[in-house]
Amino acid sequence: MKKIIATGKGGVGKTTTLTTLSLLMAREGKKVIVFDTDPSMNLALSFGVPYGNISTITEDKSEISEELEEHGISESGEEILQDHSVVTEDGIRIVIMGAIQHGGDGCLCSAISVIKMLLDYVEKNCDYDIAIVDSQAGPEILGRGLAASFDCNVVLSEPTAKSSEVSRQVKKLADDLGIKDTVLVVNKADTESDVSFTAQMVGIEPYKAVGVFYDRDVVKADKEGELLVDAYPDSVALGNLKCAKKLIEESIGW
Ligand SMILES: Nc1ncnc2c1ncn2[C@@H]1O[C@H](COP(=O)(O)OP(=O)(O)OP(=O)(O)O)[C@@H](O)[C@H]1O
Ligand SMILES: [Mg+2]
Repeated sequence: MKKIIATGKGGVGKTTTLTTLSLLMAREGKKVIVFDTDPSMNLALSFGVPYGNISTITEDKSEISEELEEHGISESGEEILQDHSVVTEDGIRIVIMGAIQHGGDGCLCSAISVIKMLLDYVEKNCDYDIAIVDSQAGPEILGRGLAASFDCNVVLSEPTAKSSEVSRQVKKLADDLGIKDTVLVVNKADTESDVSFTAQMVGIEPYKAVGVFYDRDVVKADKEGELLVDAYPDSVALGNLKCAKKLIEESIGW
């Protein structure tokens, strides 16, 4: 099972990119599981699954901890997975880590560690072709061990100095962590030269970077609650995202 994560500054397009990538892969017959580790929990909604349709890991934190203490992940993994995920019409299984439940509840470390255990569980016991992890904005997720054995860090960046700086940081942390490869998606690009310019600022070879143009169809699909692939199949951004998919697939050896 291949494992990829998307990282980058807030609002750069991580969730949009991963949703589209997952759908394209699933519709080509790949078995896809996605994990949303962002406490803002946008990913399920991007697939058209309403909030509340999936029990999150943080909601059931104590029951899950008890279950794991008593039986371990090898015995309870399937049940935790079944109780905390849904499968979309395209066959994509979505697992949501969830938000902090109450003010003052503390950090999300235990929920992240459950996600890590579930990832290990599905890798050993299920037949998914790929696990795709959406993360919260910024480098924090790479300070944790979650993505240590991942195949590719998909860094999203807008073509600006501020966004590139965050991307430079996440690339360094991903390298430290031992993630095998990094590709850069320069999203909301305005000109062709934005890609090489941003790649240089992030410190990545231009052949590992791909551009996705700013496209109002992406915003329209978002507003309409539609999937870009279905609502705007001929959009420029979708064409660009297909190129991004190709680069990511090369990176993971498909
Ligand atoms: N290529 C694009 N052209 C125009 N708008 C885009 C493009 N890509 C994404 N957007 C818009 O940018 C906004 C942020 O996108 P998205 O939610 O995917 O970012 P994110 O990195 O996941 O954000 P967060 O850090 O909050 O999780 C959305 O409104 C989306 O519609
Ligand atoms: Mg997001």
